Amino acid sequence: MSQQDKDEIITRILELKKARNAVILAHNYQRGDIQDIADFVGDSLGLSQQAAKLDADVIVFCGVDFMAESAAILSPDKIVLMPENSAECPMAAMITPENLVKTKQEYPDAAVVAYVNTSAAVKAESDICCTSSNAVQVVNSLDEDVVIFVPDKNLGMYTQRYTDKTIIPWDGYCSTHHQILPGDILLMREDHPDAEVVVHPECKPEVIDVADTVLSTGGMQTHVKKSQNKEFIIGTEVGMLHRLRKDNPDKIFYPASKYAVCPNMKMNDLKSIFVALEENKHVITVPESMRVRAKQALDRMLEAGRGD
Ligand code: 13P
Ligand code: SF4
Repeated sequence: MSQQDKDEIITRILELKKARNAVILAHNYQRGDIQDIADFVGDSLGLSQQAAKLDADVIVFCGVDFMAESAAILSPDKIVLMPENSAECPMAAMITPENLVKTKQEYPDAAVVAYVNTSAAVKAESDICCTSSNAVQVVNSLDEDVVIFVPDKNLGMYTQRYTDKTIIPWDGYCSTHHQILPGDILLMREDHPDAEVVVHPECKPEVIDVADTVLSTGGMQTHVKKSQNKEFIIGTEVGMLHRLRKDNPDKIFYPASKYAVCPNMKMNDLKSIFVALEENKHVITVPESMRVRAKQALDRMLEAGRGD
């Protein structure tokens, strides 16, 4: 798209946004040009908090399915639009409510903690949600000693390092974060010996072991701003580097692996946002009985607050 076409489409998006009293929420992994026009760019928890308190008529959610669904669960009176209907999180698809119900029967005394990267149906079967920024805080806030942690085994195992509770991790994972290998970090360290290695807890345990700091995308943003360090090796989806570079022009960022791209997060573009606003699509709704149960799990998490 030429710069002129881009400017034109941005102008039309902004006009439609005003006419419809809409806001654009974008996850930190979205394309840079989407981040640049969004009203709020953040991590999963920050976006959920925004969705819960916004006073707009329409939310255009630029992320993946579970994020738009969470906004629809928290704001049933608003129209939640997802520009690309097929932008699904493969990790969220690694668990079904039926499988979770079976596992709950095996561990009747355990609490179920669902990472927000889950469907509304799975959230409805869970006691409380968490994000990568508050997983440890959420698990430690529970009365139960045993926790079924779904669906990310890596976040579950990372949380186990900081709790005395017994975590039973589901066998799910993020294929994007699995692209990052310990060898990538070691090679990058050789090239940039002064850089701090900051990785996401969705990374494999072997990657966590060789990192300096482990944070959610929102936690990375705050940490890097405050840090005295000038160079960083970032182990998460590469979209995060746009945000970090923009907010910290005096610092240098290297991706731990250039292959850490989430194709689903990259499905939305300026054109699909324009079409979403103009044609009111794709509207995300959740059946009311499921919504109420899923909201309880999200509300409990929102009460627990941020961990990093
Ligand atoms: P956070 O933004 O909460 O760190 O989540 C990362 C992620 O993979 C979202 O899909
Ligand atoms: Fe799902 Fe991973 Fe993509 Fe996040 S980065 S949406 S967890 S596949």
